[in-house]
Amino acid sequence: MKAASRRTSRNDGKHRKVYTAAVLQRAPKRLAMIGIAAGVVAAAMPSGAAESGGDAKRGTKVFQACVTCHSLEPDRHMTGPSLAQLFGRKAGSGKGFLRYSDAMLKADIVWNERTLDDWLTNPGRLIPGNEMDFAGIPNQSARSDLIAYLRAVSEGSEAPRGPRMPRLKSAQADDVVKAIRYCGDTYFVTTEAGKTMKIWEFNVRLKTDSTEFGPHPGRPVLVGVGMGSDRAAIVFSAPDEIAKLIKTSC
Ligand code: HEC
Repeated sequence: MKAASRRTSRNDGKHRKVYTAAVLQRAPKRLAMIGIAAGVVAAAMPSGAAESGGDAKRGTKVFQACVTCHSLEPDRHMTGPSLAQLFGRKAGSGKGFLRYSDAMLKADIVWNERTLDDWLTNPGRLIPGNEMDFAGIPNQSARSDLIAYLRAVSEGSEAPRGPRMPRLKSAQADDVVKAIRYCGDTYFVTTEAGKTMKIWEFNVRLKTDSTEFGPHPGRPVLVGVGMGSDRAAIVFSAPDEIAKLIKTSC
């Protein structure tokens, strides 16, 4: 445990909790080993960035700040790219994500503890001109917890949490849309189960999801409607289905 004690003496107290034997014992063995190895790397680094050894479990909570835009499921891209298998990958290289900014595509950065710490402290400083609409996480221990979590998910020792986008191919008859009639300012949306909802046209959002997570072709799905809700989103597998399904008739 030479490495661990060296780290203890290097730290200013702010991160002492991370290096106590109790924490190392509590952490799964594999994580603890990663923590120690990364700590040696951090010790060799010139700046105070890249504190690793954060608490992956606590990191799941910090990740809530990311879930509106990022999933940890492989290939599940949202506003931002999937963050599965993030470690060791070059910035802007998430497979199948088509919305990277030029700044991100040109950035010569590989994601690891240190680069993620810089990114999450101040995205605009690390990659000026990037298009992630997020100011950063000023609190260093929150950042290291989050990074520990992202690393654990990347390595398969923590389950991906966060947004669970529905798998629309397994939607039930209550949610599968069979017909849409449009009259005046109203959509009459009939499901496979035979129910018809009347929804003001301004409250209907027509969306597409062409990925493996989206609906079967020709079987659009109603999402985000609760009982008594006056709003609905209908997700189609492709844009050309939209006009085909909606019949104007009064
Ligand atoms: C408002 C939406 C939004 C939020 C919130 C957000 N991100 Fe992002 N993120 C993006 C977008 C969009 C990109 C792509 C930016 C670009 O190409 O310039 C991105 C890119 C990234 C990348 C680079 C990925 C790659 O493939 O190179 C990482 C890492 C990242 N975000 C982590 C996070 C983390 C961790 C959080 C939470 C603390 C977070 N983001 C919060 C939208 C967001």
